[in-house]
Amino acid sequence: MKTHKLAILFSAVLACGLAQAAPSSNVAWTVETHSLVKKGDAAIGQEIEGVETEDVNACTDCHGEGGAEPDRDKHPVLAGQVAAYTFKQLKDYKDDKRDNRRMNEAVERLSDEQLAALAVWYAQQPPAAVEVDEEDKVSEETLRLVFRGDKKRLLQPCASCHGARGQGAIIDVPAIAGQNVKYFVETMKDYAGEKRTNDIYSRMRIIAKALTRDEINELAVYYARLGNEQAGGGTKKASAN
Ligand code: HEC
Ligand code: HEC
Repeated sequence: MKTHKLAILFSAVLACGLAQAAPSSNVAWTVETHSLVKKGDAAIGQEIEGVETEDVNACTDCHGEGGAEPDRDKHPVLAGQVAAYTFKQLKDYKDDKRDNRRMNEAVERLSDEQLAALAVWYAQQPPAAVEVDEEDKVSEETLRLVFRGDKKRLLQPCASCHGARGQGAIIDVPAIAGQNVKYFVETMKDYAGEKRTNDIYSRMRIIAKALTRDEINELAVYYARLGNEQAGGGTKKASAN
């Protein structure tokens, strides 16, 4: 009896330890991973995005051609995204490290080479313009978060990682300029609520938790507008061709 109880206790401790030790992502930026992404074949990526099976929609059904039709619900813009970032997200969905049923199903059958091909294809597409409400204001305080951060809350400026133009950076820091406003807000809420936990070292979870809802909304608007300015004044480009 006693040993039985001990065994239960032991396995509970072990399970706890394992849960804590589980990495937020299986992607490690080894030479092999870098070269896998670098060798991604955009033409193959373009082919795969249109493939539909009996139970899974084509990528284009939700993300548009070239990942450039973002004004659909909470779907992210993929066009012009940093390839290593997109590859990491697709791999995280495949490994169930990032949780979204539709996305987990969409990548289930794809090989790592195919994920790399998709990542390179999207990276090469011109960014799309996104919808932003003209009335939405961005305060001076929020702008300060972008370029100076907030020492009181130990917040690093967004620009220090995501770049001065929100264009992303090596290795897997995403471009956030030009992101769909609704998706931006949703994913920040997911980080804050521990629903999205695939960010290595909790980098974004810590930041998202320190921000208010209003700040998140304004940051989404700021970055969407920044992307539109860079994409050429807000004209809609539905696809790459
Ligand atoms: C049924 C609709 C649907 C289909 C089909 C779909 N996606 Fe998605 N995709 C989404 C949604 C919704 C999200 C955001 C989910 C989340 O919050 O994790 C997403 C997220 C993503 C992301 C993460 C983007 C980011 O900025 O982090 C990538 C990359 C992506 N999809 C690529 C693809 C590819 C490639 C395919 C086809 C193999 C595909 N998607 C098929 C709806 C879809
Ligand atoms: C320490 C570096 C760092 C700082 C500072 C930082 N980020 Fe991030 N951010 C990242 C990384 C790395 C990721 C990707 C994490 C992952 O793999 O999920 C990310 C992801 C994101 C995403 C999700 C993008 C997508 O397509 O799903 C958003 C939105 C975002 N950051 C916004 C911000 C904002 C707004 C700020 C400033 C308040 C900020 N970040 C500050 C490193 C940073």
